[in-house]
Amino acid sequence: MIIAVDGPTASGKGTIAKRLAAHLDVPCLDTGLLYRAVGRQVAINDGDPDSSDDAVAACDFPDALLEDDILRTEEVGGLASRVSVHPEVRKALFKRQRAFAEQPGGAVLDGRDIGTVIAPDADVKLFITASVQSRAKRRWLEMIEKKLEHEEEIPLFEIEKDVVARDARDINRKDAPLKAAPDALVIDTTAFDREQAFETVLEAVKQALEGR
Ligand code: DC
Repeated sequence: MIIAVDGPTASGKGTIAKRLAAHLDVPCLDTGLLYRAVGRQVAINDGDPDSSDDAVAACDFPDALLEDDILRTEEVGGLASRVSVHPEVRKALFKRQRAFAEQPGGAVLDGRDIGTVIAPDADVKLFITASVQSRAKRRWLEMIEKKLEHEEEIPLFEIEKDVVARDARDINRKDAPLKAAPDALVIDTTAFDREQAFETVLEAVKQALEGR
């Protein structure tokens, strides 16, 4: 059983995917983290995230990097969005994601192109979205709550600008752009708190699995 959870930045898809995986007792892969690791590795290499060659060279990042909290910062999120436009980078990360999806017992994967490219065969496809304002507010609150060691506090309006820029880059890239698969269940969480969002998703997943 493969469950694809896609959606724009800060839509809450990551939290939803993790809870869903725990509920179903299957492993979960945050695929954004892979792109974040590539973005961070480019910076470590003193490379240019907009250069396809530099970004591909960074796909060889050590696995230990995936544990580094710095990957969660806004800055690395921006780098991830930039390296993710290169088709060669997407190709280099494909195998790892596909292998995770195919493991016996099933898996939940969250990202941008899980339902469209990585696992078009997924049993359930969710597309989690919310308004720009509410996503920026959530990201800002999260930043304040977490107080990441590497991160300066960024004002809300800056985060909102970043969310808009990130959306534009993710939606408009040629290769595997952010979009809901035609058979995805689109869930807008703007008006929901975390609990309501999860309950709504869980109900939708149960119905989809029953209807298979
Ligand atoms: O979900 P996230 O914010 O951690 O993702 C960071 C960036 O990585 C995002 O802006 C685009 C890219 N990404 C992608 O292109 N495809 C995915 N499946 C996941 C993330």
